[in-house]
Formats: sequence, C-alpha cells, structure tokens
Amino acid sequence: MPLLDWLNKSDAVRTVQKVPYRLLEAVPKLSAGDTNTENMLIQGDNLQALKALLPLYAGKVKCIYIDPPYNTRSAFTHYDDNLEHSLWLSLMYPRLELLRELLAEDGSIWVSIDDNEAHYLKVIMDEVFGRKNFLVSIPWESRYSRSNDAIFSLSHNHILVYAANPNRWKTIRNRLPRTEEQAKQYKNPDNDPRGEWRAIPWDAPNIRENLSYPITTSTGKVRFPPSGRHWSRTEAQWLEIVNAGLAYFGKSGDGAPSFKQFLEDSSDIVPNTWWQHEEAGHTDEAKKEISIIFGANNSFDTPKPERLIQRILHIASNSNDLILDSFLGSGTTAAVAHKMNRRYIGIEMGDHAETHCQPRLKKVIEGEQGGISKAVNWQGGGGFHYFRLGETIFDEVGSIHHNVKFAALAAHIWFCETRVPVANQADSPLLGIHNDTAYYLLYNGILGDRRPQSGNVLTQAVLDSLPKHNGCKIIYGEASRFGKPRLEAENIVFKQIPYDVRAV
Ligand SMILES: C[S@@+](CC[C@H](N)C(=O)[O-])C[C@H]1O[C@@H](n2cnc3c(N)ncnc32)[C@H](O)[C@@H]1O
Repeated sequence: MPLLDWLNKSDAVRTVQKVPYRLLEAVPKLSAGDTNTENMLIQGDNLQALKALLPLYAGKVKCIYIDPPYNTRSAFTHYDDNLEHSLWLSLMYPRLELLRELLAEDGSIWVSIDDNEAHYLKVIMDEVFGRKNFLVSIPWESRYSRSNDAIFSLSHNHILVYAANPNRWKTIRNRLPRTEEQAKQYKNPDNDPRGEWRAIPWDAPNIRENLSYPITTSTGKVRFPPSGRHWSRTEAQWLEIVNAGLAYFGKSGDGAPSFKQFLEDSSDIVPNTWWQHEEAGHTDEAKKEISIIFGANNSFDTPKPERLIQRILHIASNSNDLILDSFLGSGTTAAVAHKMNRRYIGIEMGDHAETHCQPRLKKVIEGEQGGISKAVNWQGGGGFHYFRLGETIFDEVGSIHHNVKFAALAAHIWFCETRVPVANQADSPLLGIHNDTAYYLLYNGILGDRRPQSGNVLTQAVLDSLPKHNGCKIIYGEASRFGKPRLEAENIVFKQIPYDVRAV
C-alpha cells in the first residue's frame, strides 16, 4: 500500500514507544457530582494521557470522536492552530496509533477536519486504521451563510469515519429516527384504519425478463411495466402484497401499481453521507450554545454543536458505552455523552480544561438546559472525576521511578484495579475494600524500616501486621516468601512490583 512520507516521519512512528507511562492524579476539588462514576476529565497533553489510559482501557472504547486543530494558520484565543505541515502530521500519527489501541473490536472513530489537512489525514488514517476499515468521509454542512469576499465560501467540514471491523460494526450501529419532515411524506387520503402511509412504486429501471409479468388493477385493467422498465420484485412477492391488502393503484384504482408503506411499520433510517445543518447543527448554533453557558466574553472559538455530536454518538454507541474525545476543546463531546447516558473520557491540554470543560460539565450535572437537553429530556445528575498527569511511573530500567511516592502509586494501583479514584490520600498499606476484595500495597517502607526491604516483601510477620480482611486479598509488593498453596490458603493474590503494576 502506498504510504505518506514526511520530514521526521520515522521519529513520529517511534514516538509511542518512547512516551513514558505517567500516573493519573485525581483532583477531588475539581471533580463534581456522584463520586461513583467512571467519567473522566483529564487535563494534559493527550499523547501522555492516552498512554496512561492504555493499561486500563485498551480495546474498551466504543466511540472515539476527535476534533483536532485543523491547521488553519489561525491563532485562536485558547490554542494555536498553526503548525508546519510535517509537524502537524507528526502530532497526529502517534495519537492516532494510541487511539487505535483504545478502540473496541466493535468500535468506531470519527474525526472532524477541513480541507487544510483532510486528504493527508485520510492517508495516515488508512495506514494506522487500515484502508479496508474506512467507512466514509461525511461532508457536514457546518455553515449555511455565504462569505462574498472569499474565493470559495466555506460550507462544510469533513468527518472521516473508520470502524475497527466494518462487518461487525454494521451489525451494531444504530439507524437514525425519522425526522418530522421525513414523516410528513406519510399521509392518509383514503382514511385507511392502519394509519398514515406512502405509496412506493412497484416499477424499477432497466429490463429483467422474469420481472415483466402482467398485474391486474383493482378496476380490472391489466398493466405491464412502462417501456424500458420492469417490476421491482417477483410475481410471488406481488401476490403477497395483494394478499396483505397493501396494493395501491392511485385514486382512480387503475393507475400504476404501487404498495402502501405504513409509517408505523417503517423502520428508522440508514444515515446518509451528506449531513445538512438542519439535521446536524452548524457552527453558529455551537457558538450560541457556548455563549449561553459562559457568556459572550468568555466564549470558545471553535466549538461543535451538541446536535452534531448527538448524531454521532446515537449512530455509534448505546447507553453506558465508553466515549473518548482527546481534543476536548470546550467539552462538547463530554457534555453530550453525559446527557446521553454514556460513560466518557475527555482530554484537553489547555487551561480551558479547568475554565470551560470543568464548569460546563458541572452545569450539566446540575441540569443545564441548553444544546440537546430538551431533546433528550435531560434532568441533571451523574458525576465526573478530574485528573492531571502525575509522575512518570517507571524509570529507564523498568523499576518504579524513585520520585513516585507511596500515596501516588497507591492511587494508581487502586484506580487500575477498581476504575474509581481513591477517596482520600492513602496512608496505610490497606488501600481499601472494593467488591469484598481488599487491596494492599507494600511499598516505600509503609510498614517501617524494621522489616525486610522496608516491609516491601510479603512475609508472615508482614501479613500479621496488615489490617485484617476475611475475603480475597490482593497484595502488591516486591516479593513474596509464601508459596502458591500458602497464598491460596490465605486467600491472597500476590502481585509483584514493578511487573504487575499495569502499564508495563
Ligand atoms: C478544535 S478544538 C476542539 C473543539 C471541541 N470539539 C469543542 O466542541 O469545543 C481542538 C482542541 O484540541 C486541543 N489540543 C490540541 N493539541 C492537544 C494535545 N496535544 N493534547 C490535548 N489537547 C490538545 C486544543 O487546546 C483545542 O482545545
């Protein structure tokens, strides 16, 4: 397959390997709502944040939506959108690789982009996600007004869509509900008790011999397909239509054969490739949504409308699925995912993670009524945890980095095991009990210097000194002096530091 090359591509290809695993540090004062939630807002560079998420969420994300800087040569209030072309490609390549690792087998990735980089992005996404996994490039009508001073007035952005496995995805993706406009095509001129219907013609283009049989209308007239056309299905299928009382020959009763399709029986519709602003929202609408939340003087330059994200999440996910946006901007994807009852992870590098995403999500929890709220009957509730990137976990030889303190490693291990952050800073080898399993960490002499390797080794004396728990015990330490039968008898699962610390 032909591949795109650019200056320093070989470095970009090696980047993921070189990015260190870092701890995710919860910031309780910026978290909000129900603490029993997996929703995460992470402030930091997404390259490092995505790598930190890998041990926890590889293969688990159902829908990834990203809206990276388009490289429009602009300096927006909250971020710069002006990278040298090769640098932009080198920014995207390793991040796409990490996103691919996080995508579920039945997941999909949707990327907003415009003509500045769209066609280069398509080629590198073909390389990273597989050309055969490309589904569509959707032109979204982002703007309906016209700039008369432009060479061409910009009306659309592209949304590139890839599935981890298109065959599998086709079976799980959702259709769209019929809009009121589409439903208006169904009428009931003959007061049919089965409700509103529309006539679907029985003829089709091009001739096929076995599809040219005679059809008798309700007034007794015999009809054949019009010249150059044939019937769309077989005679046996036509008789089924007749027997079901669905045949229709126009008001006169002897017009061209058609059949009644009832509104009630017509299923939701397959999404098409052309997304107009009436259905998917537009950028003006997005800006209004943002200024209602933050006020006109504290807006965000490039938000997406909530309706656009709603449409994507509706097609690509179901309630409780995990959604990821690693270029979160003003927080739209997280806000919409929250209102649609999806779990989510949002990553944003800029200070607006704290000044825009965090307060926006807090308002959503409080029942904010803008954007899609009314359409989904949003009443408030739920919660999210705020994280920042902490220390690098491993040093160059794969040991736990000497800067990593007990409390930070404890928080990391607890989070990896339970998927919820620790409530308080850990200061005991018993990190907590979750689903009747107790988690212990023997590290950095938490038990005092009298014990072997500062109490980092599981011995009988160490076990005796640990807070008791009758159920299963998961104990992290540098080594264990117990054999397998003894561990089983004590209901202990021993995990060795650093090898069993996730992220290795
Ligand atoms: C086009 S905006 C996203 C807008 C968003 N869709 C919305 O509705 O508000 C792109 C965002 O990506 C962020 N960004 C750029 N590089 C990043 C990186 N390496 N890590 C995390 N965020 C980054 C920028 O700060 C900016 O907020």
